[in-house]
Amino acid sequence: MASGFAEVVTYGPEQTQALGRALGAAARAGDVFLLAGVLGAGKTCLTQGILWGLGLDEYARSPTFVLVAEYRARLTLYHLDLYRLDSVDEVEALGLDEYLYGDGVCVVEWADKAPGAFPPEHLFIRLESLDENTRRIRLTADDERNRSLIEVATAAV
Ligand SMILES: Nc1ncnc2c1ncn2[C@@H]1O[C@H](COP(=O)(O)OP(=O)(O)OP(=O)(O)O)[C@@H](O)[C@H]1O
Ligand SMILES: [Mg+2]
Repeated sequence: MASGFAEVVTYGPEQTQALGRALGAAARAGDVFLLAGVLGAGKTCLTQGILWGLGLDEYARSPTFVLVAEYRARLTLYHLDLYRLDSVDEVEALGLDEYLYGDGVCVVEWADKAPGAFPPEHLFIRLESLDENTRRIRLTADDERNRSLIEVATAAV
């Protein structure tokens, strides 16, 4: 059985994007990727890779002011950023379920701001800065689908 935890270190944004690209290439409708980590940890960088992996040759920006950006790729990518939200109530008011249980792929930056707002089937990815170009990326999953995505992602870096 695939493991529910992996840790990788990337040495530059391209490597973090490569990890994302592998996830995007393997993604299926309904997949949920929850990203955590401080400002500049690399969440948007990883999301960029996911978008490329979904086959769309566009730039992903942090949707900090719009909260949700939608990209029409092989599957629709819903890119959410909860940074500006102050309370779980606000998260609920956003009506995330439309994205989380929709027919696209959902990537959520600052997902740790809304514990409990997400389906149990998700891939949780925590990014940490070790130095300027080095990031530690920890992936955790509790279900078989997302465990297999951990294998896919770690094989890419
Ligand atoms: N190994 C690495 N992986 C990812 N990004 C890296 C790495 N090394 C350096 N960087 C740089 O770190 C920055 C990461 O910025 P990014 O916007 O992805 O962070 P973020 O976690 O989305 O921050 P925010 O919370 O502000 O949205 C980029 O400038 C990127 O080039
Ligand atoms: Mg960001």
